[in-house]
Amino acid sequence: MRKWLFRGLLLLLVLGVVGAGVGVWVLTRPTIDTVGRVTFDREVAVPPLAASRVDGAGRRVFDLRTQAGESDLGRGEPTATWGYNGAHLGPTLRAKRGEQVIVNITNQLGEDTTVHWHGMHLPARMDGGPHHPIRPGATFAPQWRVDQPAATLWYHPHPHERTEMQVYRGLAGMFLIDDPATGAAGLPHEYGVDDVPVMVQDKAFDDDGQLSETGRFGSEIGILGDSVLVNGTPGPYLDVTTSLVRLRLLNASTARIFNFALSDGRPFTLIGTDGGLLDRPHQVQRLPLSTGERAEVLVAMRPGERVVLRSGPPAPEGDFAMRRFQGGGDRFDVLELRAAATLKDSSAVPAKLADVPRLDPATAAEHREMEFSTRDINGRRMSHDRVDAVVTRDTTEVWTVVNGHGTPHSFHIHDVQFQVLERTDGGPVPPLLSGWKDTVYLPPHEGYKVIMRFTEFADPATPYMFHCHVLRHEDEGMMGQFVVVEPGGSPRLSAHHGHGG
Ligand code: C2O
Ligand code: CU
Ligand code: CU
Repeated sequence: MRKWLFRGLLLLLVLGVVGAGVGVWVLTRPTIDTVGRVTFDREVAVPPLAASRVDGAGRRVFDLRTQAGESDLGRGEPTATWGYNGAHLGPTLRAKRGEQVIVNITNQLGEDTTVHWHGMHLPARMDGGPHHPIRPGATFAPQWRVDQPAATLWYHPHPHERTEMQVYRGLAGMFLIDDPATGAAGLPHEYGVDDVPVMVQDKAFDDDGQLSETGRFGSEIGILGDSVLVNGTPGPYLDVTTSLVRLRLLNASTARIFNFALSDGRPFTLIGTDGGLLDRPHQVQRLPLSTGERAEVLVAMRPGERVVLRSGPPAPEGDFAMRRFQGGGDRFDVLELRAAATLKDSSAVPAKLADVPRLDPATAAEHREMEFSTRDINGRRMSHDRVDAVVTRDTTEVWTVVNGHGTPHSFHIHDVQFQVLERTDGGPVPPLLSGWKDTVYLPPHEGYKVIMRFTEFADPATPYMFHCHVLRHEDEGMMGQFVVVEPGGSPRLSAHHGHGG
């Protein structure tokens, strides 16, 4: 009897020590901090502008091909990656407002994909959501008329339950819209020279230099990497030759929330957000971007100097779990800006950038509430057979989108750009949320009231999506469907939509 008691106590002791060890490891394991430890030894890649031609029907034609390949991501050996028209990432598509575009997408991967035009106003059938898989070897050719203000949009896959992996492996690119009326002619606009795409992504690598897809211990938001790439370049620097450089920042990560600042704390000028330019420039020192969000900024440089774009903890910093497990305590060196010994003078920043007509909540035909919690929206997960919101064409709606628990989420909606009316806790709405948005970060227990207008495209048979843009969450079903119908109409989901692939 004594002996068993002794053994039992010994076992408890051993378990206790092991448990405490695991606990100590979890609690003391440092957060990621690469500040001051990145040797900026590679010139940042600038994605090429996609070749295009105008066909007999006057349409601007692009060709995109998904493919697997290998890339030098700074690991000493090649890393297997995916890309459009190349081994990694994709070319920048560019079109003018008013142009009819057609994109021939050929899928050369061994699995289904789709291409979604994030931020684009277009018919649901062209939107590239999970309902329209492109099978291996197949081609899909969506076409639409570009009709929205000048903006920095992007494209990425949106297949059923595989979005995180496909984006993580490298499928992403920018889509720039030009529009003289809303593009502020006085801004830097020479692509790759003083107007530079900056796609920021974090990656985790295994010992063989391959992308690690296991993710971080305790992460509720999927893969969090400890290396940050810009346009696929590790340790990147950008040679600046003008006194003002325009950065089109895109957080193309699958999960990570960045909070950008310059290394010496100097302010920079925020000029645009997801859906286009702001009405006027704002001086800011911090720029938080959750996944899928974009911002255009101007950085003023002095001859010969160097300054580093960094990312620090989000604000609000969140609780212990947020800091330790969701990347909320991590800090990164992202991109070094190197000014030439002499800089070409840029023109002064225009005091007025664009007209951003405010949508009026008094005109809203509908108010809806969307609560994001666990992996659900209003307690439900995505179902291809359920329409979560029926919207009447040419109406305005106000949606209250809130995070109901302690894990970070975001709200993204297809087809439209929205405006933020207020924070649900009554706090101030920052300049970053003063213009057109299609994605907004929902910090733990916070939310926003947003307003949007659904115009032009009604299709009772084809839904658009709204979802959390933490891609693991999207894949797990934190997504809903809305259908835009003509006045008095109702949705008619056709049978094959029941199984999007
Ligand atoms: Cu960028 Cu529905 O996604
Ligand atoms: Cu989208
Ligand atoms: Cu989420």
